[in-house]
Amino acid sequence: MSGAQVTNAVVIAGTDTNIGKTVFAAALTAASGGTYWKPIQAGITGGTDRDAVAQLGELKPDRIHTEAYRLMTPCSPHRAAEIDNVAIDTANLVPPNGTPINPLTIE
Ligand SMILES: Nc1ncnc2c1ncn2[C@@H]1O[C@H](COP(=O)(O)OP(=O)(O)OP(=O)(O)O)[C@@H](O)[C@H]1O
Ligand SMILES: [Mg+2]
Repeated sequence: MSGAQVTNAVVIAGTDTNIGKTVFAAALTAASGGTYWKPIQAGITGGTDRDAVAQLGELKPDRIHTEAYRLMTPCSPHRAAEIDNVAIDTANLVPPNGTPINPLTIE
């Protein structure tokens, strides 16, 4: 990864929605003392995962990185990008600069 200096990252992945990725990521970010990043937020009505993590983990804004992409359609990122007519450039999928960042929890 280029961009921010990441020395320790955990990726939370799951192939369905509402299975607890965000809830787990909030707990992990809070317990680890690190930061949270959701590279692609698909679906923004009803709040974002960033907001949920900040609330659940009681985290200050400097521990929640800004998404690389925010898509309107609530489905998988690649499909949401197609529907929203957005081209996702993987070169943009790097953590934003900012310190401190580690450990980084990526959802
Ligand atoms: N504080 C809480 N206590 C118990 N359950 C909660 C709490 N907050 C959210 N939930 C529930 O946990 C479930 C998992 O939600 P979560 O947002 O973690 O899923 P997700 O895997 O991140 O989904 P997505 O793919 O949309 O990001 C939801 O049904 C939600 O209603
Ligand atoms: Mg989530």
